[in-house]
This record gives sequence, structure tokens and C-alpha cells, in this order.
Amino acid sequence: MTIQKVMVIGAGQMGSGIAQVCAQAGFEVKLNDREEQYYERGLQTITKNLSRNVEKGRMTEEEKQAVLNNITKSLTIEDASDVDIVIEAAVENMEIKQSIFKQLDEITPKHTILATNTSSLPITEIAAVTNRPEQVIGMHFMNPVPVMKLVEIIRGLATSDEVYTAIEEMTKKLSKVPVEVNDFPGFVSNRILMPMINEAIYTLYEGVASKEAIDDVMKLGMNHPMGPLQLADFIGLDTCLYIMEILHEGFGDSKYRPCPLLRKYVKAGWLGKKSGRGFYIYE
Ligand code: CAA
Repeated sequence: MTIQKVMVIGAGQMGSGIAQVCAQAGFEVKLNDREEQYYERGLQTITKNLSRNVEKGRMTEEEKQAVLNNITKSLTIEDASDVDIVIEAAVENMEIKQSIFKQLDEITPKHTILATNTSSLPITEIAAVTNRPEQVIGMHFMNPVPVMKLVEIIRGLATSDEVYTAIEEMTKKLSKVPVEVNDFPGFVSNRILMPMINEAIYTLYEGVASKEAIDDVMKLGMNHPMGPLQLADFIGLDTCLYIMEILHEGFGDSKYRPCPLLRKYVKAGWLGKKSGRGFYIYE
């Protein structure tokens, strides 16, 4: 199974990062979004990241141009008609993802692998709306994509070994490390990370310590690169709440109940770095 042509759906934070690392690895990438402005914003982020690599002497200007030349604009999902793999990084909403996968199942050639970058939605349920559930798989990249080494690869109930192996190989070509996991709520990454973040929020909510103190304990005491509250801001508090709700519903266990303070911040529109305010204030 040879993968050369890639389509990435969604030019946001994750999608643009995925498109960048694919283009850097020499794949032909169609970066797709619904609106030109979102595509342009994604491309700007990629260009900025590549320019930093040039400034730091890690890449020449010619290499930067070659990477950019590997990326083409796509504003319609019909462009998926000749790709070998689609990596979907649209919003975390089951209805939207199922609608995208239904369309992709009709548009793409028979051999095309349909991957999703979902951080917590069941792969098996997304796969079930297609006629090729054995070719549907989770490819969960971490943020910031150009920096983080992990790709959590999630097998749906029907994912074939051949498709798993193709994705494992592709991940290695991206200079990332594939880790295989099965399809359960939160997979491995968010099943462990989000309850830690939620507990940090409870710790703040109950007045055990200040936000700075909580983050310092985890940074200086556990060697985490960021404290959990800063990391929550970085991920997006709406995303953290959403994933906690998926864990809570998926396991039916009260240990996953989202902290009321997290709900309150999300309701206030304090979504973290992207909205200018979360646990911390951003310029
Ligand atoms: N895009 C591209 N590169 C970036 C970047 C971004 N958004 N942010 C930082 N970098 C690069 C910097 O350019 C720098 O590279 P060089 O040193 O080679 O120039 C390098 O990363 C280090 O950056 P900084 O020195 O500015 O800051 P730092 O040392 O604190 O590192 C960090 C930044 C890599 C983000 C680090 O703080 C970190 O690892 N944080 C934790 C990240 C994490 O946990 N991610 C997972 C989130 S969960 C998730 O993604 C899954 C989910 O489903 C929710």
C-alpha cells in the first residue's frame, strides 16, 4: 500500500501542523478547509514555522520553498478523488465527522485510507458510516504537531492489519513515533492526561493552592514542561471539558466528572490561549 498523495481536512492548529510535517516528509499534500481565510491562516502558520527553521539554520530557503510547493490549496472535499490517504482534523463533533467520512467514502478511490485525528471520539463509530471500516483508523497527533514526537494510532474494531502497518510506516516517515492503542474513550493519551488536568482544576477550585503554585509543583517536582493549568490553556478549555464529558459518559464513572470551575470558565468564554484568557491572561 503506497502512500504519496495526502489530503488533510481542516487547516486549524492541528490540521496545519499535520500538513506541515507531511509536506516536510515529501508527501504531496492538499490542505482542505471550507473557507479560503482558514486555509490562508493555516498556511501562514506553516510558513512562519518553516521560516524559523531557516533562521535557525536547520533548513535552507530552497528547502522551505520545496516544502511549501508540496502543499496545495483545497476548498472542496471533492479534491479527495485522487488521494491515497485523508487525515481528517475538523472539529470534534461526531455528526460533522460522520458526515465528512460518508462523503469521503463516496469520493475517494477504493484503496484510500480514511484517518481521523480525533482526540477522543470512537473510531469504530466513525468507521461505521462508511463501507470500508477496515480502512478507517485513528491518527492522533499531539500539539504542537511539528514538535511532539508521538502519534497515537488507534485501531477501530474493524481496522485491518494492512492498514495499521501502512499508517505505522507513514508515521515513521514523518519522523514521529507510532504507538498502537485500542479504541476506548480517551484512548491512552487523554484518558490519563485529562483527569490530571481536571484534578489540577479541582485543586485550584478547592483553594488548595494558587494556579502558579499548582503549575510549579508539576513543573519543578515532576519535570513536566508545562504545568497542568497552563497546558489546559494551551489545549483549549472547551476541548478539555469536551474530552472529560466523553470520558464521563463513556465509562459512566463519577471519577471523570468535569470540575465545575472548568464549566464556568468555558461558559464565560475563557477558553485559554486562543481566546486571550483562561487560567492565565495572554496578550
Ligand atoms: N509550533 C511549532 N513549533 C513550536 C511551537 C508551535 N506551536 N511552540 C514551540 N515550538 C518550538 C519552538 O520553536 C522551539 O524550537 P527550537 O528550540 O528548536 O527553536 C521548541 O518548540 C521549544 O519551544 P520554546 O523554547 O518556546 O518553549 P518550551 O521549551 O516551553 O517548549 C513546548 C514548548 C514544546 C510546547 C513545551 O512547553 C511542551 O512540550 N509542552 C507540553 C506540550 C504537550 O503536552 N502537548 C500535548 C498536548 S495534549 C494533545 O495535543 C492531545 C489532545 O488530544 C488534547
